[in-house]
This record gives sequence, structure tokens and C-alpha cells, in this order.
Amino acid sequence: MLEIEHRIVQGGMQSVGYAELTSAVSNAGGLCILTALTQPSLQKLREEIERCAAMTSKPFGVNITVFPTINSPDYKAYAQSIIDGGIKIVETAGTPAVREIVEMLRPHGI
Ligand SMILES: Cc1cc2nc3c(=O)[nH]c(=O)nc-3n(C[C@H](O)[C@H](O)[C@H](O)COP(=O)(O)O)c2cc1C
Repeated sequence: MLEIEHRIVQGGMQSVGYAELTSAVSNAGGLCILTALTQPSLQKLREEIERCAAMTSKPFGVNITVFPTINSPDYKAYAQSIIDGGIKIVETAGTPAVREIVEMLRPHGI
């Protein structure tokens, strides 16, 4: 289903899940996950998705973790960047608000 060679998933890791790690794991036949909120802005996330896509032709995903904070990032805007970036695999975790993200992604086959 994920079109990977080895059933090994490198989960999202805040401050670690950059294009270097993601492309290395995906090039080795696993599935790696860029961490969306490691990027300080939507533009930076778009650039990181493009950078990773240039470093691997294999599938990779993006993680959005919905933290229970007062000043939340615009999670839906991050999800839209993922859709626009052509990503087909998203790993998510966190508060029940995750459901809204999933509902946004599903119609795009993610
Ligand atoms: C440094 C670090 C950062 C992590 N950041 C996130 C994160 O932002 N979002 C998330 O869902 N999980 C995060 N995780 C959890 C990992 O994706 C993974 O679920 C966890 O390390 C358990 O993996 P394991 O089952 O292989 O032991 C992080 C883990 C580590 C070690």
C-alpha cells in the first residue's frame, strides 16, 4: 500500500525530521516522515517538501502533531501545504482536533 520495500517506518521527530533523514530512510527502502512543525513557517514547509522530493524518488510522508497549546499554529494551513506539496502519506497524533486534519486530507487520497 505504501510502495516501500521494507516495512519500517521512521516516525515523525520534532527538530530531527528534516529532508536529510527522510530521504536517507526512504532511499534505503523504508518510509520516513518529515516533521511539519519543525519548519517555522508554511513557506519553509513547502520548501522542505520540495527539497526532500529532490533527494529521493521513493515515497515519504509528513507528520502533523496537534499539540494541546493555547497559541496553536494554523494546523489546517499546514495540512493545505501538505496537500499542495503532493504528499500522499500523513502521520498524525495529538488531540481530538486531529480528526479535522484527517477529514481535510482524506478527499485528496492522503
Ligand atoms: C526526538 C524525538 C522527537 C519526536 N517528535 C515527535 C513528533 O513531533 N510527533 C510525533 O507524533 N512523534 C514524535 N516522536 C515519536 C516518534 O515518532 C516515535 O513514535 C517514537 O520514537 C516511538 O518509536 P518506536 O515505537 O519505534 O520506539 C518523537 C520521538 C523522538 C525520539
